[in-house]
Amino acid sequence: MEIIITKSYEEMSQLAAQMISRQLLKKPSSVLGLATGSTPVGTYKQLVRLHKEEGLDFSKVTTFNLDEYLDLAPSHDQSYRYFMDQNLFNHINVDARRVHVPYGHAENVEQFCEWYEAEMRRAGGIDLQILGIGGDGHIAFNEPGSSLGSRTRLKTLTKQTIEDNARFFKHEDEVPRFAITMGVGTIMEAKEIILLANGAKKADIIAEAIEGPITAQVSASVLQMHPHVTVLLDAEAGSKLKRADYYRWVFEEKKRLIPRMIGKMT
Ligand code: F6R
Repeated sequence: MEIIITKSYEEMSQLAAQMISRQLLKKPSSVLGLATGSTPVGTYKQLVRLHKEEGLDFSKVTTFNLDEYLDLAPSHDQSYRYFMDQNLFNHINVDARRVHVPYGHAENVEQFCEWYEAEMRRAGGIDLQILGIGGDGHIAFNEPGSSLGSRTRLKTLTKQTIEDNARFFKHEDEVPRFAITMGVGTIMEAKEIILLANGAKKADIIAEAIEGPITAQVSASVLQMHPHVTVLLDAEAGSKLKRADYYRWVFEEKKRLIPRMIGKMT
């Protein structure tokens, strides 16, 4: 795990966008795994800027989103499909036929989830997965107790997630109770993962997920087992890490001594 504590949300977002951009330059037909929520908004802004100002090309890219609320129409302004259109897809040259967001109105959810998994396999698997982290340690909507081997399926959201997400709805009662989500096992199959977190509210859970034991009670902790994860934090989200000084030192040393190793980030 490479842990990079940046100075600000802007710097974190810039680094994430640079890493995604490097991936697309290396492999224009990359398969990207995408997250919603407030955390990646800055990263998507940077990607839109890179597309508009520097011609970053998404024409051959395939995308798979992590999750979607059950029973929210794609046109609902709180659906994840709507979020992705507004924040990214409407502003880049991605081919709509290669964009995948779980369909919250699927009639047969189980069949839909099997199809979603099969589509990911057919696309060759996810090359680079972007993740945020919930206050309870969830990645996608894999709430505490989710099997570390779980696949795409229907999940009931925890009260904490419903409360956390109520800020986007007029009233807490409107927050859907269920979501279709990639599983922890699905996410772990991505070839490379970037976990993003910002703000003081994420500091405790980031410390647990990165420096605590691997447990199904904190889904993100399983990322410790993945061979290629970069955790990009702002200073607040990294403030409770016991080894913060060490992570900063590693990053600085790498920058100073082996520029070609971190070329992907500078
Ligand atoms: C969203 C997702 C969630 C969020 C997490 C953090 O697609 O999968 O796991 O990443 O709930 O949300 P924010 O970024 O709003 O704090």
